Amino acid sequence: MHFSRRQFIGLMGAASMAGCARTKDVFQSSKKAVSNIKMPSVGGSGPFTFAAVGDLHILDARSTSIVNRATDMINEMDNVQFTAVLGDLASDGELVELRLAKQSLDRLERPYYCVPGNHDAHIYSEDMFGNYRNEFDETHWREDDTGWLFIGLDTCEGNKSDVTVRNDQIQWLTKVAERTNANRPIAILGHHPFNPNTKAYRVVNADDVLGIFSGHNLKLVASGHYHGNQEETQDGTLFTTTACCSITRNNFDDTTSKGFRLFHIDSDNSITTEYVEVEA
Ligand SMILES: [Fe+2]
Ligand SMILES: [Fe+2]
Repeated sequence: MHFSRRQFIGLMGAASMAGCARTKDVFQSSKKAVSNIKMPSVGGSGPFTFAAVGDLHILDARSTSIVNRATDMINEMDNVQFTAVLGDLASDGELVELRLAKQSLDRLERPYYCVPGNHDAHIYSEDMFGNYRNEFDETHWREDDTGWLFIGLDTCEGNKSDVTVRNDQIQWLTKVAERTNANRPIAILGHHPFNPNTKAYRVVNADDVLGIFSGHNLKLVASGHYHGNQEETQDGTLFTTTACCSITRNNFDDTTSKGFRLFHIDSDNSITTEYVEVEA
């Protein structure tokens, strides 16, 4: 499914007028400005493309420059339907950092959806992700209006780097899986890696989480946190991590390239990915 910029604006306008109300359980947009708008073009049957960017680690206005370049590049890509932002938008979960991140991400002309990372936790607040939710609404969501089911999974345990996915998320995922047709293609988008052979930081209970979707058509688990490009396929599921899109942090694998990732979904729902470098 392809929408030109003009077509997309028209669809967004029509959807806005429709004023489609959506329950929190069914859909959470990470972008408050569009949170009550039915997204007309997210997912669907292939072919379509979406982008994933993460580990922005915004600290101050200067550090938004690379994110602004990335959003400009994505806006130029007419085939990109939406962008997933895979956590660590901020450096220390400060409201000012998250607001700067949102300002940069709001440059995107098509929808974007966020999940938090450990650096989006504000450790001095009782509600560590209160600042995050103030800017980006809920920390987990699902989008299942169309052919694909996209799951925004909150993998965070406070500001921990090595995490066990929490029971509330496990229970939510179990319900989502129970309601999902076994043939429906599923993508999980989260911060901490599930890659079976990631060089570091694999989610401690990754196999338990993935087991929820055994017997389902889990096509993709895309993550951040490990700042480095990793791609592997196991049992028909593509697992990725991506270089950070930050000028305040380095990659963990000694590479210097910064950027984002594209996922191309073909008409048979097969998926391929490519890394796109952004000038730091
Ligand atoms: Fe990070
Ligand atoms: Fe992280």
